[in-house]
Parts: sequence; C-alpha cells; structure tokens
Amino acid sequence: MTSYRIALNFEDGVTRFVECKAGEKVLDAAFRNKINLPMDCSDGVCGTCKCRAESGSYDLGDDYIEDALTADEAAEGLVLTCQMIPSSDCVIAVPTTSLACKTGQQSFAATVAKVEPHKDAAIVLELDVDPTGTAPAFLPGQYVNIDVPGTGLSRSYSFSSAPGEGRIGFLIKTIPGGLMSGWLARAKPGDRLNLTGPLGSFYLRDVQRPLLLLAGGTGLAPFLSMLEVLARAGSTQTIHLIYGVTRDLDLVLTDALEAYAARLPNFTYSTVVAEAASTHPRKGWVTQHMPEELIAAGDFDTYLCGPPPMVDAVRRYFDENGIRPASFHYEKFTPNVALKESA
Ligand SMILES: Cc1cc2nc3c(=O)[nH]c(=O)nc-3n(C[C@H](O)[C@H](O)[C@H](O)COP(=O)(O)OP(=O)(O)OC[C@H]3O[C@@H](n4cnc5c(N)ncnc54)[C@H](O)[C@@H]3O)c2cc1C
Ligand code: FES
Repeated sequence: MTSYRIALNFEDGVTRFVECKAGEKVLDAAFRNKINLPMDCSDGVCGTCKCRAESGSYDLGDDYIEDALTADEAAEGLVLTCQMIPSSDCVIAVPTTSLACKTGQQSFAATVAKVEPHKDAAIVLELDVDPTGTAPAFLPGQYVNIDVPGTGLSRSYSFSSAPGEGRIGFLIKTIPGGLMSGWLARAKPGDRLNLTGPLGSFYLRDVQRPLLLLAGGTGLAPFLSMLEVLARAGSTQTIHLIYGVTRDLDLVLTDALEAYAARLPNFTYSTVVAEAASTHPRKGWVTQHMPEELIAAGDFDTYLCGPPPMVDAVRRYFDENGIRPASFHYEKFTPNVALKESA
C-alpha cells in the first residue's frame, strides 16, 4: 500500500519521521507513531494543530473553518495536521519542542567503515549503521551528534551522504588537539560509535528557483548530501556553489564536485582560497567571487554553511549590499568550546 514519509521538524531542531498511509491524516499518523502533535478539536475548528508545510503536496479538504486556518495562511503553506492528507513525502515544521510532543532525539549505533585523512586538513569518515538499529532517516543538510568514545562528550557533524543509505558519510576538519580529531587519528575500521539525531533546520527545501550554495571549509559536507539528492532527482535547476577555504590544502573533495558538474547539467562551482601565499587562481573570500548574473537576477535561494566568522561575514555582506535572496538558510559550525583569540 502507498505510504508517504513525513518529516516532523520540531522547534528544538529534532526531526522525527513517520509513515503516513494513503488517505491518512498527518495528526493520526503521528499519534500512531506515539508523537503527540499539538491538537485540541481534531476537527478543523480550533487551529491548535497549525504547522507549516515546508515541502511536499497534500490536500487539506474543505471541512475546516476560516477561524482555524485562513485562505491566506493556507496559501502561505500553513496547514492543519488534523485535516492534512499528504499525496507525497512532506516536511512539516512543528512550532513546539519535541519534548512537548512526548518524543525526542533518537540514538543509533554504527561501525567505522573508513577513516580517510586528506593531508592535515580533514578526514572523510564513513560509518555502517547497524542493520537492526533505527534507520538514519534525515533531510539533506541535517547533522547528528557523534559521541567521542570514552569521554562522555559529543560533537556535531553534518551528513555528507544522501539520506536512505546504510553507509553514512562525514567530512571532518582536523583540529590539532581537538577531542574528536584526536580520536579520529586513532580510529580504525570496526570501531563502534553512538550517534544521536537527525537534527537541525538547515536542510534543502523544495527547489523552485536557482540555488546559490556557499561553503566554508568542511561546511562543504551538507552540500554534498544536497547535491547527491538533486543529482538522483535529475534536477535541471541552476545551482552555483562557492567553496571557500583558508589554505590550499583545505580544498578537499573537489573531485566529488567535478562528478556533480558532470551529473547535474546546470551545476557550476568555484573554489576560493584566502591565504595570501596561495597560488590559487581565485583568492580572497567567497563574497569576492559572487556570480554577478545570478545575484542581479535576484530570484534565488541561498544556503550558507561554515565556521561562524565566515557565516557572519557573508550575512553582513548580503545586508550591506542589499542582496535579498528569496530565502536564506544558514548553519554555523560553532565549536563546543569557544574559539581561541588567535583562531
Ligand atoms: C550544527 C553543527 C554541525 C557541524 N558539522 C560539522 C561538519 O560537518 N564538519 C566539521 O568539520 N565540523 C562540524 N561542526 C563542528 C564540530 O562539531 C566540532 O566543533 C569540530 O569538529 C571540533 O571538534 P574537536 O573535538 O575536534 O575539537 P574540540 O576539542 O572541540 O576543540 C579543540 C580546540 O580547538 C578549537 N576549535 C574548534 N573548532 C575549531 C575551528 N573550526 N577552527 C579553529 N579552532 C577550532 C576549540 O575552540 C578548542 O580550543 C559542526 C558544528 C555544529 C554546531
Ligand atoms: S486540532 Fe483543532 S483544528 Fe486541528
């Protein structure tokens, strides 16, 4: 029987996935999965179950009243989950915490399959998820918390692989003296890890207009996941990615970007290196290499991911130059410990 996968993205960043049977209302599917979405009348009258559909197609029927959901709200993508019958996979932003809905983060175990250092700059980590564990369903762009074995602490990492795979991938910056970096330097295939997630509101929305993707360093990771999803979907949308790094050796996985340029007909990318000593053809910051034509046309969505100073600099640049994309989504790779003065 047909069913649709509904991602419920809570205010605290937790995402839970539920299967919604054909003809089933989202509220009922969530309850069947022991997730108590906000509700009162369950009859389209009170508006308590109002959420925002971020993507997907659905029918709200005509059994609800204007007081519960106005025509303008419906046109903006607001939905009543007690009335909403999906006709595709959907992503729904729920305006409350997962805890308030009696659900929460999910944990799963995985085994290290590959640890591949890229010079001293970054590590590609691949994990095989336990076949008996919870399937790591996530939205492209989201992250998980990975426990650093033996420390009781965890670090956040964005998936670089596409959702739905038993093998999941990450691209992790090498931080000298870093807790996770130290563990990864000793890690070997067969080592076990615990993960919690998926998390985050930085994920690819319905692609309706050109995309400008801005990556700083290993902030490339979530874009690799998005590009894989777009390539599999046969996207013909215009997509431009700017990948900015500090040093020449930080430019990793450009072969993966080349492969996406071959698979996605309207995907282009450019690389930029900041350090003065670099011989790279494009020097400086990503803001100095914006695609003028795309920016001038105005109608594009922007996704930005990287270290906090880079994310802040790009946001400031957009503000100061009056650049207002149709939508703007960003993720900061904020360290768990405050950055040192000199960093
Ligand atoms: C939502 C989210 C997603 C993230 N996804 C990724 C990802 O996909 N890939 C990735 O590489 N990182 C990612 N990060 C950052 C990651 O969680 C860790 O902070 C980072 O890997 C450092 O961990 P560590 O244990 O090696 O170093 P720590 O032990 O945490 O830090 C050691 C020292 O290094 C400093 N430090 C930490 N990070 C940096 C830095 N970038 N530059 C300079 N000094 C630093 C710290 O302040 C501290 O003094 C993400 C962070 C967030 C919040
Ligand atoms: S629960 Fe009252 S309108 Fe949906």
